This record gives sequence, C-alpha cells and structure tokens, in this order.
Amino acid sequence: MIIKTKRLLLRPFTEQDAADVYEYLKAPAVHCFACMKLNSVQQAVEEMKHRAGETEYYFAITLKESGKVIGEIDAYPESGEPHADENSARDTFSPCWMLNAEYQGKGYAFEAAHAFFDYLFQEKGARRIYAYTEEDNLASQHLCEKLGMRKEGLFKEFVSFVNNPDGTPCYENTYQYAILKKEWEAHS
Ligand SMILES: CC(C)(COP(=O)(O)OP(=O)(O)OC[C@H]1O[C@@H](n2cnc3c(N)ncnc32)[C@H](O)[C@@H]1OP(=O)(O)O)[C@@H](O)C(=O)NCCC(=O)NCCS
Repeated sequence: MIIKTKRLLLRPFTEQDAADVYEYLKAPAVHCFACMKLNSVQQAVEEMKHRAGETEYYFAITLKESGKVIGEIDAYPESGEPHADENSARDTFSPCWMLNAEYQGKGYAFEAAHAFFDYLFQEKGARRIYAYTEEDNLASQHLCEKLGMRKEGLFKEFVSFVNNPDGTPCYENTYQYAILKKEWEAHS
C-alpha cells in the first residue's frame, strides 16, 4: 500500500532505508521509543528486514521530491477494550508517529497523520483511533489536537519506559486522545 499526500509518500520500508532510519533511531527523542534505539546501521538493516513484510499498517514517511525517509507512522487493529475475546471487532487503532528532528516543524507529521487517519477510517475499518502521549510531549499533543482528537484524560504514573538513576522505574503521566469515525467525518 502506498499513501500519497501533497509532499509525501507513505510506503512500506525496504532494506535501503536503513541509513535514513538510523539517523532518527540512533537516539530516540522520547522515552516511549527508547526500546527502538538502533546501535549501528547494520542493526538498522536487520530492523528493515523485519519491517519489509509490513505493507498495511507500518509506513515509512518519505519526501516525494528526494525519496528520503524522514520518519514513520504505524497503527494496528485492536479490539480497544480490555475484556474483549477473539470474536470482538478489531476496529480500534492507536498510532505511533515519529519524525527525524531535522524535518519537524514543517507540517509533515500532520500531513502524514491526516492521510493515515483517512486510510484507517476509509479502508481499514477503523471506528475509533486513540493516542497516548506523555504529559511533557507538547508537540505530540499539538498534533493530536490539530487532527481533531479529543483529550479524554490524564493517566497519572501510567507507564514506565526507562529507569531513574537509582534503578527504580520512571513512571510517566500519559494523556489519552481519541477520535471516532463519525467525528473525523464531521471534522474533515
Ligand atoms: C510528534 C511529532 C511527530 C510532531 O511533529 P511536528 O513536525 O511538530 O508536527 P507538524 O507536522 O504538525 O508540524 C508542526 C508545525 O510545522 C509548521 N509548519 C511549517 N511549514 C508548514 C506547512 N507547510 N504546513 C503545515 N505546517 C507547517 C507549523 O508551524 C506547524 O505548527 P502549527 O500547527 O502550530 O501551525 C514530532 O515532534 C516527533 O517526531 N517527536 C518525537 C517522537 C514523538 O514524540 N512521537 C510521539 C510519541 S507519543
């Protein structure tokens, strides 16, 4: 699957993307992506081999003009409620988004996420899209709000991605944002 916008192509990853991805994953910008850190271009090549089969829900954000991979966006179908069984509809998605710092502040994240939401709602059966973002991640909260997502709540000390210097878990306060298909259609 390839998603086109004015300035971007969202497409599956290939092995050739390793160097571009290493640029932004050698030092993940936020704690929630700490586990994605890549230690070398070779490790990035291995990671690209894993991602290569992902054609529906995991996209490289690339510049139309140069082909450069400037970030990524993904979300997978889930039931969206904790007591669901295997018969529950998987109509809920929670996106992760990340841009190379060099390409932030240019509207690319919004352009990519807007097209991705359209794709999830129109082609992948999404009924609800929700996003978690840490309390100090103002750029991600701003993106949620620009996409028309509602702030649903703040979960205090919700999750820990890294440890404090003394080895104890560093718990983060997390906002949840969400938008329903009917809200997206009314908003777009
Ligand atoms: C979250 C993240 C993806 C947001 O990226 P971003 O570049 O700030 O977001 P946008 O694409 O919406 O661009 C924002 C600004 O670009 C500017 N901009 C410049 N040129 C523009 C253009 N042609 N069109 C639109 N906006 C443009 C605008 O000022 C816009 O701000 P505004 O909405 O106040 O007008 C980015 O900060 C990131 O990758 N962070 C690290 C990873 C992360 O935190 N992920 C989320 C974990 S929860």
